[in-house]
Amino acid sequence: MSNFKSIVSLQFFFFSSISLLLLIPSCLAYNVVSFGAKGDGKTDSTAPFLRAWMSACSSTSPSNVYVPKGTYLIRSVTFTGPCRSRIEFRIDGTIVAPVDYNVIGSSNFWILFYKVSRLSIYGGTIDAKGHSFWSCRRSGHSCPPGARSITLLWCDNVVVSGLKSLNSQIMNMAIDYSSHVRVEKIRIRSPSGSPNTDGIHIENSRDITITDSIIQTGDDCISIGTGSMNMWIQKIGCGPGHGISVGSLANSLNEAGVQNITVANSVFTKTQNGVRVKSWARPSDSYAKNLIFRNLVMRNVGYPILIDQNYCPDSNCPHQNSGVKVSQVTYKNIQGTSSTQQAIKLDCSQTNPCSGITLQDIKLTFVDPRLKRQALTYCKNAQGTHRGTVIPRSCF
Ligand SMILES: *[C@@H]1O[C@H](CO)[C@@H](O)[C@H](O)[C@H]1NC(C)=O
Repeated sequence: MSNFKSIVSLQFFFFSSISLLLLIPSCLAYNVVSFGAKGDGKTDSTAPFLRAWMSACSSTSPSNVYVPKGTYLIRSVTFTGPCRSRIEFRIDGTIVAPVDYNVIGSSNFWILFYKVSRLSIYGGTIDAKGHSFWSCRRSGHSCPPGARSITLLWCDNVVVSGLKSLNSQIMNMAIDYSSHVRVEKIRIRSPSGSPNTDGIHIENSRDITITDSIIQTGDDCISIGTGSMNMWIQKIGCGPGHGISVGSLANSLNEAGVQNITVANSVFTKTQNGVRVKSWARPSDSYAKNLIFRNLVMRNVGYPILIDQNYCPDSNCPHQNSGVKVSQVTYKNIQGTSSTQQAIKLDCSQTNPCSGITLQDIKLTFVDPRLKRQALTYCKNAQGTHRGTVIPRSCF
């Protein structure tokens, strides 16, 4: 009798677990296809994506927006929070922008998450198809401002994992006014000649980690702008691109600074710069402090170690003294080759000299030994110390 009872209760337990398992996903997964999205690459699926988002976002228990395999055409879309519970966006398919670049290009954003917290985005490929937009910009015609591919604006507690971003019109990914964001295992690819296609741009944000990612693009692989602190960047493959940058700073007179940034264990291949701090040559109360760059490999990199306080990418630049104070910057264990002779270039402000710069265990040589050129250190208005072996010779 007791045996029979236990079998019954076991069976009950077994079947109720199964029904629970079946129940949970069917209740809480919001598949964009059941909201009318079509994975044929040509039907506009913007409205179905939004409807799936709004259903998930208003759910009181954790929910999941699911994008199955297929190619989904999406115009500019804003996924707005706050949501009532944790949300996961799981993408097995590819999301593409319309062929006419004006459709997303005039709205600054393509895929925007706004005021969302407790969000995870897993997988997926997003392709902004920026080629005709870049041609417009190169031709000098008047073009729309362009759209960032994916943006987190006023978001917190976010994970972006395994996303692939291709051919963004301008920045591939932007993180602005956000905190506690973890970006990992992402892949970014825009051609080296595509203008202003930064990989990941961060501004006014804190506690951001970016790890285990490969970024190939036409501008900075990662750029860390005004008002950013507590960044942890590690295991990045960068190149082609302009390197990993703090800045540009001194965009305006009153500007929040950048502090506590670590870039570690990364490889730069044929990039214009390695690790760079850049500021415009104009007055500003901005600053960059407590920066650590360590365990980096440079392969055929233009300016592997660069502080540029006379930043001037084109002819339209201010030529005053930069008000930005750069201090407490450590470069440690940086090895490889430079494609210019200025392997270490510290071009600091005359009115605000760089201070507390540490060069430790550096070995950078000129890329082509047959040309018999030496890699050099160039320092202006920079103060600091060196430790261990520093090649080319430290200027401190
Ligand atoms: C600096 O940033 C790291 C995260 O990158 C954080 O763990 C650490 O606590 C921060 N340090 C300070 C002094 O805020």
